[in-house]
Amino acid sequence: MKTIADVDLQDQRVLVRVDFNVPLDEHGNITDDARIAAVLPTLSYALSQQAKLIVASHLGRPKGKENPALSLSPVAAQLSHLLQQEVTMAPDCIGPEVSALVSAMKSGEVVLLENLRFHPEEQENDAAFSEELSSLCDIYVNDAFAVSHRSHASVEGVTRYAPISVAGFLLRKELQYLDKAIANPQRPLIVIIGGSKVSSKLGALANMIATVDAFIIGGAMANTFLRSEGVDVGKSKVEEDLLESARSIIHQAGEKGVKVYLPVDAVVASRFDSDAENRTVSIGEIPADWTVLDIGPETIQLYTEALEEARTIVWNGPMGVFEMPPYAEGTMAIARCVARSKALSIAGGGDTDAALHQFGETDNISYLSTGGGAFLSLLEGNRLPAVDALTRGAESIRSESDYAP
Ligand code: 3PG
Repeated sequence: MKTIADVDLQDQRVLVRVDFNVPLDEHGNITDDARIAAVLPTLSYALSQQAKLIVASHLGRPKGKENPALSLSPVAAQLSHLLQQEVTMAPDCIGPEVSALVSAMKSGEVVLLENLRFHPEEQENDAAFSEELSSLCDIYVNDAFAVSHRSHASVEGVTRYAPISVAGFLLRKELQYLDKAIANPQRPLIVIIGGSKVSSKLGALANMIATVDAFIIGGAMANTFLRSEGVDVGKSKVEEDLLESARSIIHQAGEKGVKVYLPVDAVVASRFDSDAENRTVSIGEIPADWTVLDIGPETIQLYTEALEEARTIVWNGPMGVFEMPPYAEGTMAIARCVARSKALSIAGGGDTDAALHQFGETDNISYLSTGGGAFLSLLEGNRLPAVDALTRGAESIRSESDYAP
């Protein structure tokens, strides 16, 4: 895959699409700048090559309307701090004022465009909007892995008009790690899937049956699997319409020799509340009125022993309600186990990312993806429209396998 390093950037207007969809607190302060830090190698490289650097992103879901609470202004300040140079905040992402601002740029300067999603045309992948964005640049760079599963104007449409379209370093790195973990893994490959809903992970489970050696299942979605096996899970939420799918996953896995680990005990509570009465029970003894909120100690032992054998681990989704201290143990134990493992470990998804931060284990994972939906989409075996789009730009050059750069 051709990257920003393969083109001459000097004095060129370089539009880098990044994912600065960062979490903000109620005062508009950035609570985690990992997504900004992750694209610094690309941005610093462009500046070192004397490019005129135009940075574009979305923030949140403003539904096509201007919304001051979702302005990228706080990001401009943080980016300026991290780059240690001035970052000019544009009043919009298209329009005459923005064109004039970009025309006046000198090499080595940085402009951050305002939230792309203030325009409905961004998510509609509107042709005129894409063309207008592309008119701001000589070279377009996609370094927004986390939004590359979307066919939006700034990642897909724009490549139809930009003279040159290439990948940034983060996009390349994300695809390389996912390729190592999923397409060409060192075995055994163990995939840990957790979180609240089977529905959101079904595609990933179904796709990966063909490649994994074992699944470890936790979180509320484990209840649907347990229920599909005839286990009474009390008041825990079960996706009744997916019982058959869960059964089918277990059956197909069995036929392929893929081991499926399910909880053998659980922390149950009388209510969904951190102050509720709670206790640990075996899976066959969940009280009728109680709810499963975490995996229990025997399950932790079972899962950690299984993970000791792994040479590649992919993790998406927590084991329990880790945000509440009484139900954090399972996710914490798995985080520690993955972090200490000698296997190549790749984690992704918003909750998994938050859990690794909470337990201070982010630095001990081989690779923590910046993608949530995009990460899951790759686990589902989908191609990413924005990655495919990079091979279509007028002068972009297709490599043999864009997913294995
Ligand atoms: C993300 O946070 O996963 C990306 O920024 C994509 O955001 P979206 O789900 O609103 O498209």
